[in-house]
Amino acid sequence: INDLKKALPLNGTKALVTAGPTYEAIDPVRFIGNHSSGKMGFAIADELAKLGADVTLVSGPSAQVSKQRSIKRIDVTSAAEMLDMCLQNFEQAQVCVMSAAVADYTPVTVATQKIKKQDDGLTIATKKTTDILKTLGSLKRPHQILVGFALETDNEEVHAIGKLQTKNLDMIVLNSLKDEGAGFKGDTNKITIIDKNLAKTDYSLKSKDEVAKDICAKIVTLI
Ligand code: CTP
Ligand code: CA
Repeated sequence: INDLKKALPLNGTKALVTAGPTYEAIDPVRFIGNHSSGKMGFAIADELAKLGADVTLVSGPSAQVSKQRSIKRIDVTSAAEMLDMCLQNFEQAQVCVMSAAVADYTPVTVATQKIKKQDDGLTIATKKTTDILKTLGSLKRPHQILVGFALETDNEEVHAIGKLQTKNLDMIVLNSLKDEGAGFKGDTNKITIIDKNLAKTDYSLKSKDEVAKDICAKIVTLI
């Protein structure tokens, strides 16, 4: 087994992966969230571990379970908690894949009591969350590979390249919601990978496990 492990491409490599949605509390019983299942991030964590990496998985609320028992899972709820855990684990990681669907906005204040219903409806004041990926991009050192995702419905490639560059990424995985069967809720995905040299690879619609293999194979070529 030791000889086998030595032959794996990511043996001795530490990896940090985020997965799932974040929940931003409104009051003790309500939150702002999204439909991310966590499947894509868990599949990436499993694949990196299979390739020999020592994986830390920071997950928002998700029903997923890792297949690879070596994975160290850290559960978080909000974007702010996810940021904290990523900052704690970033420096040690050579490979970072931020696949979580982090909420872009969080309520300005969290009501301490359940908000009672009102006849005029309810307006919730929100503020932007910190962009975790961009923060890590600004801290990144040359030996680190930082991978982000872009979820787009229009002008996909232009938006994805914009994110790749402004967040200082080594590659970005474009998830086009235009395609049938793609997106963060289902079992399949259709992606395009764009690396920092703007080399583009299109992949066909496949299971998230297969997509994770494609993403991790690409990461291995960047190391
Ligand atoms: N991301 C993050 N922290 C945030 C928001 C997003 O780390 N507060 C990361 C996601 O994990 C993903 C990438 O940024 O890897 C892109 O997310 P996406 O929602 O496509 O892009 P945004 O930059 O949030 O822009 P917008 O939602 O306006 O398209
Ligand atoms: Ca967003």
